[in-house]
Amino acid sequence: MKTIRNLLILTLILSCGSCKNSKFGRGLRGLPENPAADEWYLDAEGFRKTIDGKKTDLYRLSNDAGMEVYVTNFGAVIAAIIVPDKEGIPGDVALGFKEVEGYAAEGDPYFGAVVGRYGNRIDGGRFELDGQVYELPINEAGNDNQLHGGPKGFSEMVWETGELTNNSIELSLVSPDGDMGYPGRLELSVRYTLTQDNALEMVYKAVTDKPTVLNITQHTYFNLKGEGRGNILDHELMLNADHFTPVNQRLIPTGEISPVEGTPLDFTTATKIGKRIDDDYEQLSFGRGYDHNWVINAGDGGLNLAGTVYCEETGRFLEVLTTEPGVQFYCGNFLDGSLTGKSGGSYEHRGGLCLETQHFPDSPNQEGFPSTVLNPGKEYYQKTVFRFSVK
Ligand code: GAL
Repeated sequence: MKTIRNLLILTLILSCGSCKNSKFGRGLRGLPENPAADEWYLDAEGFRKTIDGKKTDLYRLSNDAGMEVYVTNFGAVIAAIIVPDKEGIPGDVALGFKEVEGYAAEGDPYFGAVVGRYGNRIDGGRFELDGQVYELPINEAGNDNQLHGGPKGFSEMVWETGELTNNSIELSLVSPDGDMGYPGRLELSVRYTLTQDNALEMVYKAVTDKPTVLNITQHTYFNLKGEGRGNILDHELMLNADHFTPVNQRLIPTGEISPVEGTPLDFTTATKIGKRIDDDYEQLSFGRGYDHNWVINAGDGGLNLAGTVYCEETGRFLEVLTTEPGVQFYCGNFLDGSLTGKSGGSYEHRGGLCLETQHFPDSPNQEGFPSTVLNPGKEYYQKTVFRFSVK
């Protein structure tokens, strides 16, 4: 009797040990063997903090197909995207940090965040609206621009958590009149929904009480091999865009809308990102690689394909669809190995790529670009979809 009891206790101890391993160490890059099981991949405690007097937390969305998305209300950050590869093995394809502090730290390159009020750059941090000049705090030192909404943009704020279900979450914030230099009290919400067919849908809505400008984008860095697994130069990219908006040395659009044909920016057919990245081409040297806004074909306000990314090694295939007219393809040129990611490894140069669906950079200063003005009585609406499959 005693021997049987001792055996039972031993089995219990051993099985408990392996639970721990599957959560924090072994398994695939620290993933539990079945990420849709009850065990969480990220440790929620590392996200349960108080920032600016507000509580932050971690939320998990899941579907029946084995996909999981982790979201925190700090910066409306997508902290992990776990999706199976061609063998059905799950992996985390989004770069990020293990704890919320990483996202709040100065060196965070907007991993997973919702960026606003103005995604990308505003020339000299200055624009004019209805005859009034607005001066915005500059946070891109060398270039003297405002980048991604300023030093305390939406990616640095604690959002309110609204309705939460197994597969969706709504987050919202109020940005007061004058916030980061922008006019109008803005109410903004984003709803993330994970569908049964492995698509993460994002719907953004906003209203203002004074005319203002608004350009929201999602700044997830993807690596379809898995976060922390080298660079993305072997990923094949297709962009549904015959044109792009060239920039000057300060990464401000010149105002031209130029054809991609005959340039290393032509991704109209799927091409490996690394194939032409070192070509002798002025736009590539200004961007230190790819860091440009492409003009989506038929960007007519409907849900259009912006682009696709394919990773042969894992078979993972990502499609990005959006109602926005542009997409900033940025291939992690500023990553330099100094940031430690979720699984403990460092994020190397070009260790992730962003497809930031958006209006064009610096539109408030560019008459020829689609307008980013939001007036009272009108609702801002954007839908963007990250859809995953395998080939
Ligand atoms: C991108 C931008 C890059 C860089 C990056 C953040 O959206 O295009 O130039 O600023 O964000 O490091």
